[in-house]
Amino acid sequence: MPTSLKEFEAAWANRSNPLDFSGVWRFRRLLPFAPDDQIVTIGEGQTILQQSDPVGKYVGMDAGRLHLQYEGLNPSGSFKDNGMTAASTHARMVGAKIAACASTGNTSASLAIYASTTGLFRVVVFVGSGKIAFGKLSQALDYGATTIQIRGDFDDALKQVRAVCAEGGIYLCNSVNPFRLEGQKTIMYRVLEGLGWEVPDWIVVPGGNLGNSSAFGKAFIELKKLGLIDRIPRLAVINAAGANTLHELYEHKGLRWNDGRPDQSLIDSFYTDMDERNRRAQTLASAIEINRPVNLKKCLRALDACDGVVREVSDAEILDAKAHVGAGGFGCEPASGASVAGARLLRKQGIIAPGDRVVCILTGHQLKDPDVTVGYHAAESNERLAEKLAGGGVVERPFSNGPIVVDNDFQRIMEVIRQIE
Ligand code: F0G
Repeated sequence: MPTSLKEFEAAWANRSNPLDFSGVWRFRRLLPFAPDDQIVTIGEGQTILQQSDPVGKYVGMDAGRLHLQYEGLNPSGSFKDNGMTAASTHARMVGAKIAACASTGNTSASLAIYASTTGLFRVVVFVGSGKIAFGKLSQALDYGATTIQIRGDFDDALKQVRAVCAEGGIYLCNSVNPFRLEGQKTIMYRVLEGLGWEVPDWIVVPGGNLGNSSAFGKAFIELKKLGLIDRIPRLAVINAAGANTLHELYEHKGLRWNDGRPDQSLIDSFYTDMDERNRRAQTLASAIEINRPVNLKKCLRALDACDGVVREVSDAEILDAKAHVGAGGFGCEPASGASVAGARLLRKQGIIAPGDRVVCILTGHQLKDPDVTVGYHAAESNERLAEKLAGGGVVERPFSNGPIVVDNDFQRIMEVIRQIE
């Protein structure tokens, strides 16, 4: 095992070795489950930690204190590639012929790209009807995955794929697969790398199936145990208000890790009540439209280790935050905007201090969900998109930047141009 995180810098000079080039596998000594010759990599993890004052100002931070971790720069455009390279490696190790997942879109895009580029296995993806952003659906289709569209939502699709995999001997790639989480630990290693191996005060991440938050907690618990960091950052997990199981259980019902024995009766009665009311997840941030997060207990462990908090934010807050990430950074998909909206809320509540060093994880690329982005900026010119946003309670769009419609006439165009300050 390494004695200092700085040791990983040796890999930077060795880019011709694909394992050292990979932003996941250059840390392979911290996820040592695969021999080098079995590792499946497509160059994932070349992501950037960007300090952003425009977004920091919106959040309410002092200059220089807010950082954005752009996981949308991965090959399939989301953080999922960090975990999928590890799951694909394990699938290869056990000789899987078919791999499957249920997805709100990004997991399926990621699994599909690993299958298409490596040819190691075939892929079946399960998605909910009308519940997946077109950018993501287009990826699964284009990469050649067999795509099964269930008449139901993600929670239904996940239940089905688990049963199908158990029955059909198919390799399951959802984040119940522990190797996914091993890979996702490396997002935190790269955050530390981006900060010159210093530990930030806060990591803020959207919560859906709670794989990321679980993996981040595990990463920090291990680094601390290995003596590679001297303290653990605080973790904030941000739910969409329309898919807020973790927020309800953690902040309102007092569910805790409790040394590995969380109160199961709290969880059971929450789900029973949810079923009785037939309450389904609903948010424009379709990536995190999940009411039954499979990694709930592991996330409780992460929250325990990281002195964590959970918050919920509305779709309107998510989209306003997303517009700021676009205007002040590289942009992101709606679910990722939740982390910036959540940081802003925690700043307002005085839980995050203006001088804290904060890292918001931007989980997915801006181009994943053009419908919501165009809807936010230009709803007046598209009834369908306006309706979609109104369905999420987004009526005001204070940071919209719509197109200016002009006649095909040089003089008229120049009149508009002259008004630009
Ligand atoms: N952000 C994006 C862009 C996502 O795609 C997801 C999850 C999350 C956040 C939530 O992360 O599940 O680790 O808490 N997407 C999954 C999928 C469910 O199927 O692509 P989590």
